[in-house]
Amino acid sequence: MARVLITSALPYINGIKHLGNLVGSQLPSDLYARYMRARGHEVMFICATDEHGTPAELAAAKAGKPVAEYCAEMHAVQAGLARGFRLSFDHFGRSSSPQNHRLTQHLAGRLRAAGLIAEVSEKQVYSPADGRFLPDRYIEGTCPNCGYERARGDQCEECTKQLDPTDLINPRSAISGSTDLEVRETKHLYLRQSALRDRIDAWIDSQTGWPVLTTSIARKWLHDGDGLQDRGITRDLDWGIPVRDGTDDWPGMEGKVFYVWFDAPIEYISATAEWAEANGLPDAAWRRWWRTDEGADDVRYVQFMGKDNVPFHTLSFPATLMGSGEPWKLVDYIKSFNYLNYDGGQFSTSLGRGVFMDQALAILPSDYWRWWLLSHAPESSDSEFTWENFQASVNKDLADVLGNFVSRVSKFCLSKFGPAVPDGGEWGDRETALAAEINRRLRVHEGCMEAMEVRKSAAELRAIWVLGNEYLQEAAPWSVFKSDPAAAAMQIRLGLNLVRLYAVISRPFIPDAAAAMMAALGCDDWSWPEDASAALRLLEPGHGFSVPDMLFRKITDAERDDWAQRFSGTRG
Ligand code: MF3
Ligand code: ZN
Repeated sequence: MARVLITSALPYINGIKHLGNLVGSQLPSDLYARYMRARGHEVMFICATDEHGTPAELAAAKAGKPVAEYCAEMHAVQAGLARGFRLSFDHFGRSSSPQNHRLTQHLAGRLRAAGLIAEVSEKQVYSPADGRFLPDRYIEGTCPNCGYERARGDQCEECTKQLDPTDLINPRSAISGSTDLEVRETKHLYLRQSALRDRIDAWIDSQTGWPVLTTSIARKWLHDGDGLQDRGITRDLDWGIPVRDGTDDWPGMEGKVFYVWFDAPIEYISATAEWAEANGLPDAAWRRWWRTDEGADDVRYVQFMGKDNVPFHTLSFPATLMGSGEPWKLVDYIKSFNYLNYDGGQFSTSLGRGVFMDQALAILPSDYWRWWLLSHAPESSDSEFTWENFQASVNKDLADVLGNFVSRVSKFCLSKFGPAVPDGGEWGDRETALAAEINRRLRVHEGCMEAMEVRKSAAELRAIWVLGNEYLQEAAPWSVFKSDPAAAAMQIRLGLNLVRLYAVISRPFIPDAAAAMMAALGCDDWSWPEDASAALRLLEPGHGFSVPDMLFRKITDAERDDWAQRFSGTRG
């Protein structure tokens, strides 16, 4: 038994996530966590909301709420949706937690003591009317490129040109509208990543088996141009973690907070501390996952994220942890994803384009979505959601292959032999061959799951479902029954055992259906089928069962067209 620490990239707090976000980290990390638990490993699975930064402030302003209140509400909404999708986090924390304040400030203090923080004077736009410095996107004005009058200081949304606030014509504060803006000197903190470059480089080189998608991004940042650059880690915002040196004030940094990308990954650790506190456990309970001097050298730490997050996880976050000089656990493996597109374009939160987590659950139960998303995860390249494809996968894989098998076996058994596993004697050659083939394919499936090859794992699982259908087709117990009822009983006994085996191995993908299958079998033995031949004899003759309700229904053409239509525009 191993100990596996799993983190999913933290979803931003500003709004409900779409299916593209979901499949980019939270869902595949859940698949892996569930699988690792099923194999008997000790798992710590952590996620949280990423609550700081300008987007959070802007979203709160748009909702007309104080930002703390907005974040508390959105955290509850996102936690509810995570439960709806059966994401099995051990803890779903908040980057605004007291634990994260403390740890972020502590680490900043350690970095400063190690000489890894530089204080840099910069010129920045100040608004006397608002009494604060304005971040780039809090300054609006006319785009010098296309004349759009509401261009932001970082970018024009109309023509997409990247801008500097000083490029804008007639600049004004986006908060108050004030045009009385001045440029003032202000101090910011920089993490001296350049000083850590060789250590990070050596650490990346020492990783074996990381996907090229991950290492190539890291190496590009390490070596291109002037190499790894120092990074600003403070911002002029109200909402965030105040800049302090451990528990002491940091002179000259009053009114500033840490940059969201500095404190967000630290929340992986802090959320584990939140977990301990929420469960009334001592600090040692979370530290054994994170401190190599307190047991974490035995931990295998795997991170899941979209490809845009890779630089922060291969460079900045390791720089923070290494630079602290403390024995924090570093990541062992990064699983990164490409993007999921929506029906010929991109999913977009700002435009409300695509299907969002709440909308998905309002249409169909989570297993339908989990199955499609996982079996089409954007791994080697971007992938695309279309309603045709969704309908086809659900109807074929879930309804025709798995659902149909379960229903045929259980209904036939009930009508011919009654509500208990029938006897019927020893297996024949066909059954022995089936068990051997399932064994072989199970090992392939396990290999894919270990390697986090999500799509392949789904395909291998489906192949094992298909074996059951083929067996039933060839064995044909409904006709055998007429001449040899005992042989038919033996075949159906095997079929019912296959249902249990399917429940166990399908559970990481479709946990609700798996639970329904197991409940119908009146069984609670989730032991992994290390040996299919033994696993397929687990339910013994006389064991009671019932016919489960339909596991998966088909999506009709009318529904498909209706949904395609309904989600073609933008979210209202
Ligand atoms: N909120 C970021 C995003 O959605 C991810 C943050 S991951 C963390 O892209 F490591 F910073 F937590
Ligand atoms: Zn423009």
